[in-house]
Amino acid sequence: MTTPGADRPTRVLVLDHTGELGGAELALVRLCHALGPEVDVRVLLFSDGPLVERLRAAGVATEVLALDRRTATTSRESVGRASLSQLVSLLRLVPFSWALARRVQGLRPDVVHTTSLKADLLGVVPARWARSALVWHVHDRIADDYLPSRVARVFRWAAARFPDAVIVNSEATASTLPVGTTVAYPGFGAGQDLAGPRPPLPAGRSGPVVGMIGRISRTKGQLELVRAARTVLDRHPAAVFRVVGEPSFGAEEYADQVRAEAERLGVADHVTWVGFVADPSTELDGFDVCVHASPVPEPFGQVVVEAMIREVPVVAARAGGVVEILAGPPGEPALGLLVEPGDEESLAQGILAVLDAPGEARDRAVRAAVVARRRYSAARTAEVVSGVWLRAAGRAR
Ligand code: GLC
Repeated sequence: MTTPGADRPTRVLVLDHTGELGGAELALVRLCHALGPEVDVRVLLFSDGPLVERLRAAGVATEVLALDRRTATTSRESVGRASLSQLVSLLRLVPFSWALARRVQGLRPDVVHTTSLKADLLGVVPARWARSALVWHVHDRIADDYLPSRVARVFRWAAARFPDAVIVNSEATASTLPVGTTVAYPGFGAGQDLAGPRPPLPAGRSGPVVGMIGRISRTKGQLELVRAARTVLDRHPAAVFRVVGEPSFGAEEYADQVRAEAERLGVADHVTWVGFVADPSTELDGFDVCVHASPVPEPFGQVVVEAMIREVPVVAARAGGVVEILAGPPGEPALGLLVEPGDEESLAQGILAVLDAPGEARDRAVRAAVVARRRYSAARTAEVVSGVWLRAAGRAR
Protein backbone atom coordinates (compact mmCIF):
# COMPACT_ATOMS: atom_id res chain seq x y z
CA MET A 1 0.00 0.00 0.00
CA THR A 2 1.33 3.46 -0.86
CA THR A 3 1.56 5.33 2.42
CA PRO A 4 -0.46 8.48 1.89
CA GLY A 5 1.11 11.72 3.12
CA ALA A 6 -0.62 13.48 5.99
CA ASP A 7 -1.10 16.52 3.75
CA ARG A 8 -3.98 15.17 1.68
CA PRO A 9 -7.31 13.56 2.50
CA THR A 10 -7.59 9.78 2.61
CA ARG A 11 -8.95 8.67 -0.75
CA VAL A 12 -11.85 6.23 -0.47
CA LEU A 13 -13.53 4.47 -3.36
CA VAL A 14 -16.96 3.07 -2.46
CA LEU A 15 -18.23 0.14 -4.52
CA ASP A 16 -21.91 -0.88 -4.57
CA HIS A 17 -23.59 -3.24 -7.01
CA THR A 18 -26.81 -1.26 -7.35
CA GLY A 19 -28.02 2.20 -8.28
CA GLU A 20 -31.43 1.51 -6.68
CA LEU A 21 -32.37 3.03 -3.33
CA GLY A 22 -32.26 0.14 -0.87
CA GLY A 23 -31.62 0.56 2.85
CA ALA A 24 -27.85 0.27 2.53
CA GLU A 25 -27.85 2.84 -0.27
CA LEU A 26 -29.90 5.35 1.72
CA ALA A 27 -27.48 4.84 4.60
CA LEU A 28 -24.59 5.54 2.21
CA VAL A 29 -26.10 8.85 1.06
CA ARG A 30 -26.60 9.99 4.67
CA LEU A 31 -23.06 8.93 5.54
CA CYS A 32 -21.64 10.89 2.60
CA HIS A 33 -23.48 14.04 3.66
CA ALA A 34 -21.85 13.82 7.09
CA LEU A 35 -18.22 13.09 6.15
CA GLY A 36 -15.48 15.57 7.00
CA PRO A 37 -12.57 16.95 4.95
CA GLU A 38 -10.14 14.26 6.13
CA VAL A 39 -11.64 11.87 3.58
CA ASP A 40 -12.20 12.24 -0.13
CA VAL A 41 -14.90 9.81 -1.22
CA ARG A 42 -16.01 8.77 -4.67
CA VAL A 43 -18.49 6.08 -5.58
CA LEU A 44 -18.54 3.49 -8.34
CA LEU A 45 -21.81 1.63 -8.91
CA PHE A 46 -22.29 -1.53 -10.96
CA SER A 47 -25.68 -0.38 -12.25
CA ASP A 48 -27.43 2.91 -12.93
CA GLY A 49 -30.37 4.22 -10.91
CA PRO A 50 -31.68 7.03 -8.70
CA LEU A 51 -28.79 6.61 -6.27
CA VAL A 52 -26.48 8.30 -8.78
CA GLU A 53 -28.30 11.64 -8.53
CA ARG A 54 -28.70 11.39 -4.76
CA LEU A 55 -24.94 10.93 -4.36
CA ARG A 56 -24.07 13.71 -6.79
CA ALA A 57 -26.44 16.02 -4.91
CA ALA A 58 -24.40 15.18 -1.80
CA GLY A 59 -21.31 16.38 -3.68
CA VAL A 60 -19.90 12.90 -4.27
CA ALA A 61 -18.23 12.08 -7.60
CA THR A 62 -20.21 9.06 -8.79
CA GLU A 63 -19.74 6.84 -11.82
CA VAL A 64 -21.37 3.70 -13.18
CA LEU A 65 -19.47 0.73 -14.54
CA ALA A 66 -22.27 -1.49 -15.72
CA LEU A 67 -22.29 -5.13 -14.75
CA ASP A 68 -24.47 -7.37 -16.86
CA ARG A 69 -28.03 -6.57 -15.75
CA ARG A 70 -28.96 -10.16 -15.06
CA THR A 71 -26.00 -10.58 -12.70
CA ALA A 72 -26.53 -7.23 -10.97
CA THR A 73 -30.17 -8.03 -10.21
CA THR A 74 -29.75 -11.65 -9.13
CA SER A 75 -31.62 -11.87 -5.84
CA ARG A 76 -29.92 -12.88 -2.61
CA GLU A 77 -32.23 -15.87 -2.49
CA SER A 78 -31.26 -17.29 -5.88
CA VAL A 79 -27.47 -16.93 -5.86
CA GLY A 80 -26.99 -20.15 -3.95
CA ARG A 81 -28.41 -22.39 -6.68
CA ALA A 82 -25.85 -24.12 -8.89
CA SER A 83 -27.05 -24.09 -12.46
CA LEU A 84 -25.89 -23.60 -15.98
CA SER A 85 -27.20 -20.05 -15.99
CA GLN A 86 -25.22 -19.37 -12.86
CA LEU A 87 -22.10 -20.61 -14.57
CA VAL A 88 -22.82 -18.36 -17.54
CA SER A 89 -23.27 -15.38 -15.27
CA LEU A 90 -19.99 -16.20 -13.55
CA LEU A 91 -18.26 -16.16 -16.92
CA ARG A 92 -19.83 -12.80 -17.64
CA LEU A 93 -18.07 -11.53 -14.56
CA VAL A 94 -14.62 -12.00 -16.09
CA PRO A 95 -14.62 -8.95 -18.41
CA PHE A 96 -16.40 -6.90 -15.77
CA SER A 97 -13.85 -7.77 -13.09
CA TRP A 98 -11.05 -6.88 -15.45
CA ALA A 99 -12.58 -3.47 -16.24
CA LEU A 100 -13.24 -2.87 -12.55
CA ALA A 101 -9.69 -3.77 -11.57
CA ARG A 102 -8.30 -1.38 -14.18
CA ARG A 103 -10.57 1.44 -13.05
CA VAL A 104 -9.69 0.92 -9.38
CA GLN A 105 -6.02 0.89 -10.21
CA GLY A 106 -6.40 4.10 -12.20
CA LEU A 107 -8.04 5.83 -9.24
CA ARG A 108 -5.43 4.59 -6.73
CA PRO A 109 -7.64 4.89 -3.64
CA ASP A 110 -6.15 4.41 -0.19
CA VAL A 111 -9.25 2.43 0.74
CA VAL A 112 -11.75 0.40 -1.27
CA HIS A 113 -15.00 0.35 0.73
CA THR A 114 -17.66 -2.13 -0.38
CA THR A 115 -21.28 -1.82 0.74
CA SER A 116 -23.13 -4.85 -0.66
CA LEU A 117 -22.47 -8.59 -0.71
CA LYS A 118 -21.74 -8.61 -4.44
CA ALA A 119 -19.44 -5.61 -4.19
CA ASP A 120 -17.68 -7.18 -1.19
CA LEU A 121 -16.68 -10.19 -3.26
CA LEU A 122 -16.05 -8.36 -6.54
CA GLY A 123 -13.90 -5.79 -4.74
CA VAL A 124 -11.37 -8.28 -3.40
CA VAL A 125 -9.12 -8.64 -6.46
CA PRO A 126 -9.24 -5.01 -7.64
CA ALA A 127 -8.36 -3.77 -4.12
CA ARG A 128 -5.40 -6.14 -3.91
CA TRP A 129 -4.26 -5.18 -7.37
CA ALA A 130 -4.41 -1.47 -6.62
CA ARG A 131 -2.70 -2.09 -3.24
CA SER A 132 -5.59 -0.42 -1.48
CA ALA A 133 -6.88 -1.40 1.93
CA LEU A 134 -10.19 -3.25 1.66
CA VAL A 135 -13.04 -2.38 4.06
CA TRP A 136 -16.29 -4.33 3.91
CA HIS A 137 -19.42 -2.59 5.12
CA VAL A 138 -21.87 -5.41 5.84
CA HIS A 139 -25.56 -4.45 5.97
CA ASP A 140 -26.91 -8.04 5.85
CA ARG A 141 -27.00 -10.68 8.53
CA ILE A 142 -24.75 -13.46 7.25
CA ALA A 143 -27.04 -16.14 8.60
CA ASP A 144 -28.89 -19.15 7.20
CA ASP A 145 -32.29 -17.63 8.02
CA TYR A 146 -31.43 -14.63 5.87
CA LEU A 147 -29.27 -15.96 3.02
CA PRO A 148 -29.03 -19.32 1.26
CA SER A 149 -26.79 -21.34 3.58
CA ARG A 150 -24.14 -21.87 0.92
CA VAL A 151 -23.83 -18.13 0.31
CA ALA A 152 -23.62 -17.45 4.04
CA ARG A 153 -20.87 -20.08 4.38
CA VAL A 154 -18.78 -18.70 1.51
CA PHE A 155 -19.23 -15.23 2.84
CA ARG A 156 -18.13 -16.05 6.36
CA TRP A 157 -15.10 -17.85 4.93
CA ALA A 158 -14.19 -14.86 2.76
CA ALA A 159 -14.76 -12.38 5.60
CA ALA A 160 -12.02 -14.05 7.61
CA ARG A 161 -9.54 -13.81 4.74
CA PHE A 162 -9.91 -10.82 2.48
CA PRO A 163 -11.01 -7.54 4.07
CA ASP A 164 -8.60 -5.53 6.21
CA ALA A 165 -11.54 -4.34 8.31
CA VAL A 166 -15.26 -5.07 8.53
CA ILE A 167 -17.90 -2.51 9.49
CA VAL A 168 -21.40 -3.71 10.38
CA ASN A 169 -24.72 -1.92 10.91
CA SER A 170 -25.60 -3.57 14.26
CA GLU A 171 -24.47 -6.00 16.95
CA ALA A 172 -27.02 -8.38 15.44
CA THR A 173 -25.13 -8.37 12.14
CA ALA A 174 -21.78 -8.54 13.96
CA SER A 175 -22.85 -11.73 15.72
CA THR A 176 -23.27 -13.50 12.36
CA LEU A 177 -19.65 -12.95 11.31
CA PRO A 178 -16.60 -14.94 12.49
CA VAL A 179 -14.32 -11.88 12.61
CA GLY A 180 -13.86 -8.75 14.69
CA THR A 181 -16.01 -5.89 13.38
CA THR A 182 -16.77 -2.27 14.12
CA VAL A 183 -20.43 -1.37 14.62
CA ALA A 184 -21.42 1.86 12.85
CA TYR A 185 -25.16 2.38 13.34
CA PRO A 186 -26.67 4.04 10.27
CA GLY A 187 -27.45 7.67 11.08
CA PHE A 188 -30.56 9.60 10.12
CA GLY A 189 -30.39 12.48 7.66
CA ALA A 190 -30.56 16.22 8.32
CA GLY A 191 -34.10 17.39 9.05
CA GLN A 192 -35.54 13.88 9.36
CA ASP A 193 -36.20 14.52 13.05
CA LEU A 194 -38.31 17.62 12.49
CA ALA A 195 -41.91 16.39 12.66
CA GLY A 196 -44.38 18.38 10.56
CA PRO A 197 -48.17 18.87 10.83
CA ARG A 198 -50.35 15.79 10.78
CA PRO A 199 -51.56 15.06 7.23
CA PRO A 200 -55.38 14.88 6.86
CA LEU A 201 -57.13 11.51 6.75
CA PRO A 202 -59.15 10.51 3.69
CA ALA A 203 -62.77 11.76 3.80
CA GLY A 204 -65.01 9.68 6.06
CA ARG A 205 -62.11 8.25 8.07
CA SER A 206 -61.28 9.17 11.63
CA GLY A 207 -58.41 6.80 12.38
CA PRO A 208 -56.39 5.80 14.35
CA VAL A 209 -53.70 5.21 11.72
CA VAL A 210 -51.52 2.12 11.85
CA GLY A 211 -48.66 2.35 9.37
CA MET A 212 -45.93 0.20 7.99
CA ILE A 213 -43.06 1.35 5.77
CA GLY A 214 -40.80 -0.90 3.74
CA ARG A 215 -40.43 -2.87 0.59
CA ILE A 216 -43.34 -5.31 0.21
CA SER A 217 -41.71 -8.65 0.84
CA ARG A 218 -42.22 -11.81 2.85
CA THR A 219 -39.24 -10.73 4.98
CA LYS A 220 -41.02 -7.50 6.06
CA GLY A 221 -44.30 -8.98 7.30
CA GLN A 222 -47.14 -7.18 5.49
CA LEU A 223 -49.10 -10.45 5.66
CA GLU A 224 -48.85 -10.46 9.45
CA LEU A 225 -50.06 -6.85 9.49
CA VAL A 226 -53.26 -7.48 7.51
CA ARG A 227 -53.98 -10.50 9.69
CA ALA A 228 -53.44 -8.45 12.85
CA ALA A 229 -55.75 -5.79 11.34
CA ARG A 230 -58.73 -8.11 11.84
CA THR A 231 -58.26 -8.20 15.64
CA VAL A 232 -57.43 -4.49 15.85
CA LEU A 233 -60.59 -3.55 13.91
CA ASP A 234 -62.79 -5.53 16.30
CA ARG A 235 -61.86 -3.01 19.02
CA HIS A 236 -61.09 0.08 16.89
CA PRO A 237 -63.51 -0.19 13.95
CA ALA A 238 -62.41 3.14 12.43
CA ALA A 239 -58.71 2.19 12.29
CA VAL A 240 -56.92 2.58 8.98
CA PHE A 241 -53.81 0.75 7.88
CA ARG A 242 -51.30 2.41 5.56
CA VAL A 243 -48.87 0.11 3.80
CA VAL A 244 -46.08 2.24 2.34
CA GLY A 245 -43.71 0.63 -0.15
CA GLU A 246 -43.82 -1.45 -3.27
CA PRO A 247 -42.86 -5.00 -4.07
CA SER A 248 -39.38 -5.45 -5.43
CA PHE A 249 -36.96 -8.29 -6.14
CA GLY A 250 -39.76 -10.45 -7.55
CA ALA A 251 -42.19 -10.08 -4.62
CA GLU A 252 -45.29 -9.29 -6.74
CA GLU A 253 -46.73 -12.71 -5.99
CA TYR A 254 -46.40 -12.07 -2.27
CA ALA A 255 -48.08 -8.65 -2.67
CA ASP A 256 -51.02 -10.37 -4.42
CA GLN A 257 -51.23 -12.88 -1.60
CA VAL A 258 -51.36 -10.09 1.00
CA ARG A 259 -54.15 -8.27 -0.91
CA ALA A 260 -56.11 -11.49 -1.26
CA GLU A 261 -55.76 -12.14 2.47
CA ALA A 262 -57.01 -8.62 3.24
CA GLU A 263 -60.08 -9.31 1.07
CA ARG A 264 -60.67 -12.69 2.65
CA LEU A 265 -60.53 -11.25 6.17
CA GLY A 266 -62.83 -8.36 5.22
CA VAL A 267 -60.25 -5.71 6.13
CA ALA A 268 -59.38 -4.55 2.59
CA ASP A 269 -61.51 -1.37 2.91
CA HIS A 270 -59.37 -0.29 5.80
CA VAL A 271 -56.02 -0.85 4.07
CA THR A 272 -54.43 1.79 1.82
CA TRP A 273 -51.63 0.62 -0.44
CA VAL A 274 -49.64 3.83 -0.60
CA GLY A 275 -46.87 2.59 -2.89
CA PHE A 276 -43.30 3.85 -2.95
CA VAL A 277 -42.53 7.20 -1.35
CA ALA A 278 -39.09 8.77 -1.69
CA ASP A 279 -39.26 10.31 1.78
CA PRO A 280 -41.46 8.63 4.41
CA SER A 281 -41.48 11.66 6.76
CA THR A 282 -44.96 12.95 5.90
CA GLU A 283 -46.41 9.44 6.15
CA LEU A 284 -44.83 8.99 9.58
CA ASP A 285 -46.36 12.26 10.80
CA GLY A 286 -49.79 10.76 10.16
CA PHE A 287 -49.17 7.48 12.02
CA ASP A 288 -50.49 6.76 15.52
CA VAL A 289 -48.30 3.71 15.52
CA CYS A 290 -45.49 2.53 13.24
CA VAL A 291 -45.31 -1.23 12.84
CA HIS A 292 -42.15 -3.14 11.98
CA ALA A 293 -43.18 -6.76 11.63
CA SER A 294 -40.25 -8.56 9.95
CA PRO A 295 -40.71 -12.28 10.65
CA VAL A 296 -37.04 -12.74 9.68
CA PRO A 297 -34.54 -10.88 11.90
CA GLU A 298 -33.79 -7.49 10.33
CA PRO A 299 -30.07 -6.58 10.25
CA PHE A 300 -30.76 -3.04 11.49
CA GLY A 301 -34.09 -1.36 10.56
CA GLN A 302 -33.65 2.32 9.69
CA VAL A 303 -37.38 2.92 9.52
CA VAL A 304 -37.66 2.21 13.25
CA VAL A 305 -35.19 5.01 13.93
CA GLU A 306 -37.02 7.30 11.50
CA ALA A 307 -40.26 6.73 13.42
CA MET A 308 -38.59 7.24 16.81
CA ILE A 309 -36.94 10.55 15.97
CA ARG A 310 -40.37 11.91 14.88
CA GLU A 311 -41.94 10.72 18.15
CA VAL A 312 -44.07 8.04 16.53
CA PRO A 313 -44.82 5.05 18.83
CA VAL A 314 -43.23 1.84 17.53
CA VAL A 315 -44.44 -1.76 17.71
CA ALA A 316 -41.81 -4.13 16.36
CA ALA A 317 -40.90 -7.80 16.10
CA ARG A 318 -38.41 -8.86 18.74
CA ALA A 319 -35.53 -9.88 16.45
CA GLY A 320 -32.27 -8.67 14.93
CA GLY A 321 -31.08 -5.08 15.07
CA VAL A 322 -34.49 -3.74 16.07
CA VAL A 323 -34.03 -5.12 19.59
CA GLU A 324 -30.89 -2.99 19.95
CA ILE A 325 -32.62 0.08 18.54
CA LEU A 326 -35.53 -0.20 20.97
CA ALA A 327 -33.40 -0.99 24.02
CA GLY A 328 -33.68 1.76 26.60
CA PRO A 329 -30.61 3.22 28.28
CA PRO A 330 -29.21 0.90 31.02
CA GLY A 331 -31.78 0.38 33.76
CA GLU A 332 -34.59 2.06 31.79
CA PRO A 333 -37.54 0.44 30.02
CA ALA A 334 -37.64 -0.27 26.27
CA LEU A 335 -38.34 2.56 23.84
CA GLY A 336 -41.09 0.73 21.94
CA LEU A 337 -43.23 -2.38 22.25
CA LEU A 338 -41.68 -5.67 21.18
CA VAL A 339 -43.86 -8.50 19.87
CA GLU A 340 -43.17 -12.06 18.73
CA PRO A 341 -41.85 -12.31 15.14
CA GLY A 342 -44.22 -13.95 12.67
CA ASP A 343 -47.07 -14.00 15.22
CA GLU A 344 -50.04 -11.89 14.12
CA GLU A 345 -51.89 -12.27 17.43
CA SER A 346 -48.92 -10.92 19.37
CA LEU A 347 -48.63 -8.11 16.79
CA ALA A 348 -52.31 -7.25 17.18
CA GLN A 349 -51.92 -7.09 20.98
CA GLY A 350 -48.92 -4.76 20.61
CA ILE A 351 -50.86 -2.42 18.32
CA LEU A 352 -53.86 -2.50 20.66
CA ALA A 353 -51.63 -1.69 23.65
CA VAL A 354 -50.65 1.55 21.89
CA LEU A 355 -54.15 2.44 20.67
CA ASP A 356 -55.78 1.68 24.04
CA ALA A 357 -53.29 3.76 26.06
CA PRO A 358 -52.25 6.64 23.80
CA GLY A 359 -50.91 8.77 26.66
CA GLU A 360 -48.50 6.09 27.79
CA ALA A 361 -47.44 5.42 24.18
CA ARG A 362 -46.84 9.13 23.67
CA ASP A 363 -44.58 9.39 26.75
CA ARG A 364 -42.61 6.39 25.56
CA ALA A 365 -42.29 7.89 22.06
CA VAL A 366 -40.98 11.18 23.46
CA ARG A 367 -38.36 9.30 25.49
CA ALA A 368 -37.49 7.24 22.41
CA ALA A 369 -36.94 10.39 20.33
CA VAL A 370 -34.46 11.84 22.82
CA VAL A 371 -32.42 8.63 22.89
CA ALA A 372 -32.57 7.95 19.13
CA ARG A 373 -31.54 11.48 18.13
CA ARG A 374 -28.43 11.04 20.25
CA ARG A 375 -27.59 7.46 19.30
CA TYR A 376 -28.17 7.57 15.55
CA SER A 377 -26.76 10.85 14.31
CA ALA A 378 -25.10 10.63 10.90
CA ALA A 379 -22.19 12.63 12.33
CA ARG A 380 -21.51 9.75 14.71
CA THR A 381 -21.70 7.21 11.86
CA ALA A 382 -19.26 9.32 9.83
CA GLU A 383 -16.84 9.51 12.75
CA VAL A 384 -16.83 5.74 13.28
CA VAL A 385 -16.54 4.89 9.57
CA SER A 386 -13.82 7.48 8.91
CA GLY A 387 -11.89 6.12 11.88
CA VAL A 388 -11.93 2.64 10.33
CA TRP A 389 -10.80 4.04 6.97
CA LEU A 390 -7.91 6.00 8.47
CA ARG A 391 -6.73 3.01 10.47
CA ALA A 392 -7.03 0.65 7.50
CA ALA A 393 -5.04 3.07 5.33
CA GLY A 394 -2.37 3.31 8.02
CA ARG A 395 -3.17 6.98 8.59
CA ALA A 396 -4.70 6.89 12.05
CA ARG A 397 -3.11 9.19 14.56
C1 GLC B 1 -30.03 -3.15 4.84
C2 GLC B 1 -30.67 -3.94 5.95
C3 GLC B 1 -31.44 -3.02 6.91
C4 GLC B 1 -30.58 -1.86 7.35
C5 GLC B 1 -29.93 -1.16 6.15
C6 GLC B 1 -28.93 -0.09 6.59
O1 GLC B 1 -31.00 -2.63 3.99
O2 GLC B 1 -31.55 -4.92 5.43
O3 GLC B 1 -31.85 -3.75 8.04
O4 GLC B 1 -31.34 -0.94 8.08
O5 GLC B 1 -29.26 -2.08 5.35
O6 GLC B 1 -27.84 -0.64 7.28
